[in-house]
Amino acid sequence: QGPAAPRLVERTVPHGTGLLGWSIKHRTPLVVDDPSQDPRHAAELASEIGVVPHHLLVAPLIDGEDAIGGIEIIDQRSSARDGDGPWNTDDLKLLVLIAAQAAGAIGMARRRSEQSNADRLASIGRMLAGLLHDLKTPMTIISGYAQLMAAMDDPAQRDKYVEQIQRQFDLMAGMTREVLAFARGDTDLVMRKVYVHRFAEDLSKQLGAAVYGRGIDFEVETRYDGTAYFDEQKLMRVFHNLASNAIEAMPDGGHLRVAIERDRDELVWTVRDTGPGIPEHVRGRMFDLFATGRKGGTGLGLAIVKKIIDDHRGMIRPQTGPAGTTFVIRLPLTRALDGEQGES
Ligand SMILES: Nc1ncnc2c1ncn2[C@@H]1O[C@H](COP(=O)(O)OP(=O)(O)OP(=O)(O)O)[C@@H](O)[C@H]1O
Ligand SMILES: [Mg+2]
Repeated sequence: QGPAAPRLVERTVPHGTGLLGWSIKHRTPLVVDDPSQDPRHAAELASEIGVVPHHLLVAPLIDGEDAIGGIEIIDQRSSARDGDGPWNTDDLKLLVLIAAQAAGAIGMARRRSEQSNADRLASIGRMLAGLLHDLKTPMTIISGYAQLMAAMDDPAQRDKYVEQIQRQFDLMAGMTREVLAFARGDTDLVMRKVYVHRFAEDLSKQLGAAVYGRGIDFEVETRYDGTAYFDEQKLMRVFHNLASNAIEAMPDGGHLRVAIERDRDELVWTVRDTGPGIPEHVRGRMFDLFATGRKGGTGLGLAIVKKIIDDHRGMIRPQTGPAGTTFVIRLPLTRALDGEQGES
């Protein structure tokens, strides 16, 4: 602020210029009477800016190891201040104290903003890792359908495969949108009213394609014929991740069964396989990021599952043993928890 400010801001001067520059460079506070007599004074710069200092107090801003700036107090009056005489070392001590406070506050603010950037980057990294993990599913399905198409002469059947491939591309586009939404800062679920039967049919088709040709006896059993509120795409991902673990656990085939039923105000989903069970050493931390019990696993699948269920304010319980693994998921049937009765 002040008349000289517009001529001062956005000006760059070499490091160490003037008494302030010297003070910063040498990390030393100074009190100077009549700077024009001091060889360190940047007289040209001062007159360019339109400031003629007669007395100066300068102190560097030191934050930890770094000199991050300086404070300069200028008295332009030629006589000593109103009867007080020129500035003395007591004034300088006071300025040094103020400089220490200011430097600490600036440093703290900088570190805080660096930290929150780092946090954001770290979560974008996790998100991207999640995206790459989830893109594997539609890519596998697309490649499967493409192979089937190549071997298929019947145009009607080919059209069906094209439709399925198109669906997978839509899914991938949805995932991309989600990551971008996250980068913008909103991670909201897209809660919609869903006809559970229709969702179950879709689930049956998609997981059916995933288990196809693997000797796995697969079935979806729906014992609830109403509606519920959830994020369809995200929940579909939950079942893809659970199914892909089950498939990996049953290389020689087995049974995979998904059951859907209502228990009072909750929708209960059960995913049961007949694999060898979750290895003991991963059991306690299977929902942690990067906890994996198999070669080539990234350990993201169940962490993503847990996150999605938590976001829905639901619960997930694993039961596992040598006869197989069951995951029971409970989701609130309505959005009453949010105090919303949303219709979409
Ligand atoms: N149904 C299951 N049967 C046996 N083991 C399982 C089952 N589900 C999960 N596991 C074990 O839990 C581990 C963690 O699963 P998770 O899906 O989180 O990661 P991943 O499958 O190893 O890797 P990713 O899913 O990221 O490709 C698996 O590596 C596996 O050892
Ligand atoms: Mg997995």
